[in-house]
Amino acid sequence: MTSSIEKLYEEADRLYYDDKLDEAAALYQKILDQDPEHQAALHSLGIIHYDRDDYGPAVEYMLKALEQDPEDIYVHSNLGKSLYGMVHMGEKKKAKKIARQWMESFPENRIALHMAAAVTGDEVPDRANDDYVAQTFDEFADTFDSKLEELSYRAPELLGEAVTRHVSEKDLRILDAGCGTGLCAPHLRSLARKLEGIDLSEEMLALARKRKLYDRLSRAELTEALQTRTKRYDVGVAADVLCYFGDLSAVFGAMAAALKANGLFAFTLETHGKSKDYDLGISGRYTHSTKYVRQVLAQSGFELIEAEDAQLRTEYALPVMGLVVVARKQA
Ligand SMILES: C[S@@+](CC[C@H](N)C(=O)[O-])C[C@H]1O[C@@H](n2cnc3c(N)ncnc32)[C@H](O)[C@@H]1O
Repeated sequence: MTSSIEKLYEEADRLYYDDKLDEAAALYQKILDQDPEHQAALHSLGIIHYDRDDYGPAVEYMLKALEQDPEDIYVHSNLGKSLYGMVHMGEKKKAKKIARQWMESFPENRIALHMAAAVTGDEVPDRANDDYVAQTFDEFADTFDSKLEELSYRAPELLGEAVTRHVSEKDLRILDAGCGTGLCAPHLRSLARKLEGIDLSEEMLALARKRKLYDRLSRAELTEALQTRTKRYDVGVAADVLCYFGDLSAVFGAMAAALKANGLFAFTLETHGKSKDYDLGISGRYTHSTKYVRQVLAQSGFELIEAEDAQLRTEYALPVMGLVVVARKQA
């Protein structure tokens, strides 16, 4: 990178972070006029188009940026989000075609595999892979709490109330499974002697740590971690986490093993009215049928105590409905 291009790029970035998108876009374009293969400028122009809901050009720029650096996980992640936007704007056929080419070109890239499967509906994996989850939430961490507030996110509060209804003491060992930035902690802390959190995203965990409400936080994959914590918890809570799992049998089985006899498992998930047990949506999140959730709970040794329909949040200003579930591990 020559120093004059470097200076232009720094100036363009400064304008971008000052929210002067038109001026920033003009400078990124100026860089590309001098160096059409400038990867960061291609990516940045893609991001500006994405920010403006202009998903077709966003996708084009992300693809060009990937030609320059096929390993850049941020570009892969932004390409996935742009394809999601394209589908949302009604360009499903085009988005699917690009997603298939993306998957074929990067068969080893775990972000590409998950998001391309979400857009195409082909070869739906059992759950979101660890790299995809960690990358998505590491990137999302800084804006997570404010974004979720904008979306009227209610799962932590609803689960806190649900657990409170079904416990008779306040000296519990509680696991916040997929704790993220710790939004559930204020709703659980007063019930807990020990409050522990597990999550795959280091950046989300760093924010959870700052709350100083947890006794222990671990970076781990949930199902694996639960399998090593036999009969440890009185309560396991999973707020908006099971939407990263399609097949629920392994994670429900592991939660049953990690709970003490009569322990409670409280969680939210988003439901669909389809006949399929689970489905992967274009957002990269899974939805489940209520029948399937009940069936896997029973198979995993849980007795269902309550399953309430609730509005969990909004998406594109529309309500997202789901279930708030409390189940008890059978003794
Ligand atoms: C939408 S956030 C919800 C966070 C928090 N429970 C809340 O309600 O704010 C989902 C979280 O689940 C975590 N997660 C998803 N799949 C996971 C897995 N297999 N193991 C551990 N954490 C996982 C993500 O890293 C992310 O922080």
